[in-house]
Amino acid sequence: MKSHVKILATGGTIAGITRTPARSGYHAGQMGIQDMIDTVPDLKSLGDISGEQIANVGSQDMTFEILIRLTCRINDLMKQDDIHGIVVTHGTDTMEETAYFLNLSVNSPKPVVLTGAMRPADAISADGPLNLFNAVAVAADPNARERGVLVVMNDRIHGAHSLTKTNTTSVETFLSPVNGLVGTVNYGKTAYFRFPFRRHTYLSEFSSRFCQPPHPLLPRVDIIYACIDMPPDLIDFSLAGGAKGIVIAGDGNGNMNQATIKNAGQKAASGTCIVRSSRVPTGTVSRNVEMNDDTLGFIVSDELNPAKARILLMLGLSNKYSQDQIQQLFYSY
Ligand code: SIN
Repeated sequence: MKSHVKILATGGTIAGITRTPARSGYHAGQMGIQDMIDTVPDLKSLGDISGEQIANVGSQDMTFEILIRLTCRINDLMKQDDIHGIVVTHGTDTMEETAYFLNLSVNSPKPVVLTGAMRPADAISADGPLNLFNAVAVAADPNARERGVLVVMNDRIHGAHSLTKTNTTSVETFLSPVNGLVGTVNYGKTAYFRFPFRRHTYLSEFSSRFCQPPHPLLPRVDIIYACIDMPPDLIDFSLAGGAKGIVIAGDGNGNMNQATIKNAGQKAASGTCIVRSSRVPTGTVSRNVEMNDDTLGFIVSDELNPAKARILLMLGLSNKYSQDQIQQLFYSY
């Protein structure tokens, strides 16, 4: 049977136009999905390909309203037997957050593959067309099933849990530094190295009810960036603004200065979830190393960077989980 892959477009540089191909200025999210498909005629060799426009924004303007619509559209489409996989085109800036959000909320073992581009569609050596071709090849591949949400960029297949953007402009921007790649894809030829180690998609406790009313209310969670002499009252500012949980992008192994530890500990004791993550791009944040999390009531993010830790905390809070249950989420997802 011919594979049917649906491409859901959300914008980003892959849909960006510069009009000055040798210079760096451009606007993301300009091109429609049908034009993107038409620029890669070889997509037809991979199966029946169709597109749908979900949004057309630079990914810095991605919202949870769009993400919930996207998840629910994916969950609807995946119920159809004739859909084999889905590609989501997306800006690279927040791609890892969307990939991780979908990893928790899509309820299907079929492949969901995000892709994008570092160069606009009309730039010299635009990377979008080959990324799109490779992403569709992975989405059409039965061997990509049950691997959670994937990201295909620059011939690499990344898992949603592990990948992170590491360079502001290079096409080799995404790395999976802690757990490594899921595989590679070269002009549509796939190779897989592993399955993701953490729970995801159809095995996630969040995905089965996600698109059924009543829709989950995602509470505000703020990220506070640690630095020398950080002001401890940033936490008070966030909570006064309505945040229900805080992620600290700590220095080193999720550290913060004594004044912030004291304030955060008081907030944790009165029920606020305080998650310690790290501003360092690789490595894990572990409990009870340089501070006593058991006494202070903190949660550690384990392998999740602050942006992804925020998403998991939002979902845990929306399920009204306790601090202990939320700590377990960080070891499972
Ligand atoms: C964006 O994230 O929308 C802009 C940057 C990019 O896609 O590379």
